[in-house]
Order: sequence, then structure tokens, then C-alpha cells
Amino acid sequence: MDGLPEDNAVMSTPSAHSKIQILDFGSQYTQVIARRIRECQVYSEIVRFDVDAREIAAAKPNGIVLSGGPASVYDKSAPQVDPAIFSLGIPVLGICYGMQLMAQHLGGQVEYSERREYGAGMLHVANGSRLFQGIGEQLDIWSSHGDKVTALPPGFRAAAHTENSRFAAIENPETDLYGLQFHPEVAHTPRGKEIIQNFVYHVCHCAMDWTMGSFIDESCDRVRRQVGDEKVVLGLSGGVDSSVVAALLHKAIGDQLTCIFVNNGLLRAREDEIVQRVFGENFHIKLKYVDASERFLTKLEGVTDPEQKRKIIGGEFIDVFKHATEELLAEDRANGSHGHHYRFLAQGTLYPDVIESVAIGGNPAHVIKSHHNVGGLPEEMHFELVEPVRQLFKDEVRQAGLQLGLPKEIVHRQPFPGPGLAVRILGEVTPERLQVLRDADTIVASEMEASDWYYRVWQSFAVLLPVRSVGVMGDQRTYENTIALRVVESQDGMTADWVRLPYELLARISTRIINEVKGINRVCYDISSKPPSTIEWE
Ligand code: XMP
Repeated sequence: MDGLPEDNAVMSTPSAHSKIQILDFGSQYTQVIARRIRECQVYSEIVRFDVDAREIAAAKPNGIVLSGGPASVYDKSAPQVDPAIFSLGIPVLGICYGMQLMAQHLGGQVEYSERREYGAGMLHVANGSRLFQGIGEQLDIWSSHGDKVTALPPGFRAAAHTENSRFAAIENPETDLYGLQFHPEVAHTPRGKEIIQNFVYHVCHCAMDWTMGSFIDESCDRVRRQVGDEKVVLGLSGGVDSSVVAALLHKAIGDQLTCIFVNNGLLRAREDEIVQRVFGENFHIKLKYVDASERFLTKLEGVTDPEQKRKIIGGEFIDVFKHATEELLAEDRANGSHGHHYRFLAQGTLYPDVIESVAIGGNPAHVIKSHHNVGGLPEEMHFELVEPVRQLFKDEVRQAGLQLGLPKEIVHRQPFPGPGLAVRILGEVTPERLQVLRDADTIVASEMEASDWYYRVWQSFAVLLPVRSVGVMGDQRTYENTIALRVVESQDGMTADWVRLPYELLARISTRIINEVKGINRVCYDISSKPPSTIEWE
């Protein structure tokens, strides 16, 4: 990806760590496999399906997982594996497509099927398989496959079967090669985690050494090695990722880090206060607060087109940020420190942004929305990037944040878009309309928190519509604006569903907004899922 360091040294864990490598054949569950393994406190990383076996050998993983994928092994363009990986002496677990590929390469037979079989099934386990140790004789599983293995490769035996398939799990314990036709990583295979644990601990002999404590220590060491005594600047947004990076870098390099927090005038109520309190007062992080509200709002005057709003806000952010770093430099010079320009820019890039995408059969699972990489600062600024959480998934970033002492209100906060409230005000962004939305947003947040729903959903927020309708207030007829309430659940923001909130809670939010927010006389609940709708309204 653009702008990311190629340097693998930044990514790799010390070889002392246990590690599982996952070869990605394009399954929508590849990242889920990685997370399940990390939940076993074992480091896992995703690599491309066509990685050279010598590269794997050099990385010394304790085990290899071949993910599922949408292709058939008989497709002309079927993603292939370097067959040498099966004789490295490293245990391999093939899942679905991965198992079929393994069976085909090692001399078994795979039957082609045009139809994919989806759904739940019952697995019957053979005696003595290490993969199913301690799990019992039967278990519920979930599968999604077209092809299936119909004859075993030499040396293999069936480890489990289903009604439809004699070879639902296969193994060669001598060579430590295993295959599962079903998906142990998904929630619909309730005991799948134990199968993964058996593979990771008992077949691959991994140690449980991937813990947040060890990650933080190692990450601090890495950052210190990378930046030496140079200075680092970080655009702090108040979101989870940049906040955790701030806390981590502060621990690693103290005052060599300066955070720049830009108030673009499009923030939620009290946001600037919270960030200054948590980072400035509690953490004593060097924080440059830039109030650029007027500048942004002036530029947005009269603008109603969503794309244009985003462009203006993105462009202004870059200018303000540039100017702020120049000011920092000038302040440093005035204080007598010379020659130390800000060489490094820290960013909260996460693991899902780093994984090289494989698009097989048009599977869009890994496609990243570019407009969501906030504050994309231009290359001409010549920063080198410091990305200390690029190995982590979101839930791991949160764990790291808690461990670093960040408060729950920061660590578990919901995502908030870079262009802020501007994309939640349909039509022109004016100070008056911002005030209306802020007041409504504050009520939504406080009711969601009070009812404990805030942390159970992906996002919950108000949107101000440019629609006026008639109402009555006392004896008076009103003609006022509408608030749409948007509450969604999601794993990663790529797909989402609206949340079935209790009616009482919806009623309370609606009543409070209409009674307390001047200019609103109607509240609607958005019951669209993504796709085809998006989460934000602009
Ligand atoms: P959509 O509206 O595309 O949003 O369904 C998906 C997720 O991304 C967030 N979002 C953004 N985040 N900068 C961001 O950092 C942006 O410009 C932006 N636009 C949308 C949105 O809040 C949701 O969580």
C-alpha cells in the first residue's frame, strides 16, 4: 500500500516468539482465523497464498494454516501453493479450499462440484485424532464448500466424517498434515476454537507468548530503535487508534513525541476538552491544540455537496497540520534546539490495513475504502512513518490502550468519521445547524450510555436532515427540522445492520430530543442496512 514502509523488520516479531503463518487464499474468514489464533495468545500473521516455501522456512513459523477460498482447485486460475511447504517439516492445517489443495498436491482425489454446500452439520470424530482431543465424539460444524475430497492421499486417514462426506477431516500424524472441510474459525462451529487450540498447542507446540504486555514492551523497543533521538509528530484525533499510538509512543519516547490536535469545528460537544484533559493533564503528553474551527467553517459556507465537503475538510486539515508542524519547529528553535526537524510521523495504521489484498473470484473481503484512511498527509511532507500498532487488530488495540492506562471512554469509544459532524448535517454546515446536531448527539450518547447500549453497538448517532415538517407544541403549530437516529451493529464497518433497540429507549431518545433541542420537532429511526445503504448519510 502507498506510503507504508516496506521494511519487514518493522513487522516481524522476534524469533523467540511462537508464530503461525496463514496463507490467504481469499476466504472472507482469513482474518477471523488470525484472530482466533491470537486469542490463544499465539502470534499469527497473514501472508499471500503464493509465498515461496523458502521464505516460510526462513520465517520459522511453528505451523502453517491454509485458509479457505472461493476458488475450485480445478479452476484454471486457481490460486496455487508452493508444494514444497508440505515437506518443510512444519505442521500444516488446511481449511476447506486449503484442505482440497493439500489433498490434490499429495496424491488424493478431489471431486469437482458446481454447487456450493452451505450450512450446519454434525461431525463424527474418529478415535485418537490430536486435532479433536478432548472435544468428544460429535460436534456441530459449519461448512461452505463446493469441491470435496473423495480419496485420501497416501499416509492419510479420516479423522472425522459427516453424513455427506467421509473425509470431513483428514490427517497424517506422521508428517503433521491436517485438513478440515468445515470452518473451525466461525462462531457457527461452537467448539472450533478448541480445534484451533489443539492445532496450535498440541500439534505446533506453540507457547502462549503473545500478550499485550509483551507486545507493548517490544513495540516500545522497536520505536526507540527506529527513531533514535529524533522527534515524532502525531495527529491526534481522539479516536481509539491515534489515542493508543499516543499513549504507546509517550511510554516509548516521552517528550520526543508531540501530538497535534486540530479542532476543525466539526467535533462532538466537549470533545476538545476531553482530549486535552486525558492527554495533556493526565498523561502529560506534549500536545499542541490548534483551534481552526473558523477556518473550516468559513470554507464550508454555502457547500452542500457531500464529496466537496469531504475534499474541503481533507485539504484544510493538511494545511493546518503543515502549518502546526512549522510552528512547532519555530518554537523549538526559539527555545534553542537546532537542527531537529520532525522527521517522523506516527500513524494508527492497523493490521487489516496492512494485509496485502488478494481478490480471488471478485471476493471484495479485503478492499479498503480509501476515504477512510483519515488525514492522508501528502508524500511531499517527507515524513518517515512510525506505525507501532500495524500488527494489531482493533480489539487488540483496545486491550493495549487499557493496559497503557487510557480510560474506557477513549478505548471503547465508537468510530467517528474524520470529516466529523459535517457528514451528518445534510445540506449546508452552519454554526447554528452544528449546534442543533451537537445537542441531539449529546442526548443520543448519554441515553445510549445510561442504558448500557453504547458499548454494545458499532455506532449510534444523530443526523440532521434538511427536511422541515409540521408539528404541534402546546397550542402552537411548529414547522421545524428532523433528526434521523442511526444505530448500527457491525464487525468492521464494511457491512452493517440497524440495531433493534428497545422501544422504550427509542421513545426516550426521541422525546428528549424533541423537548430539549430547539429547532427539532420530529425524530425518525433509520432502518436501512449496509449494503445497500452506508452507515454515514454522506
Ligand atoms: P460508511 O458511511 O462508508 O462508513 O458506511 C463506514 C465506517 O467508516 C466511518 N467513516 C469514516 N471514517 N473518515 C473516517 O475516519 C471518513 O471520512 C469516514 N467516512 C465514514 C463511518 O463512521 C463508519 O464507521
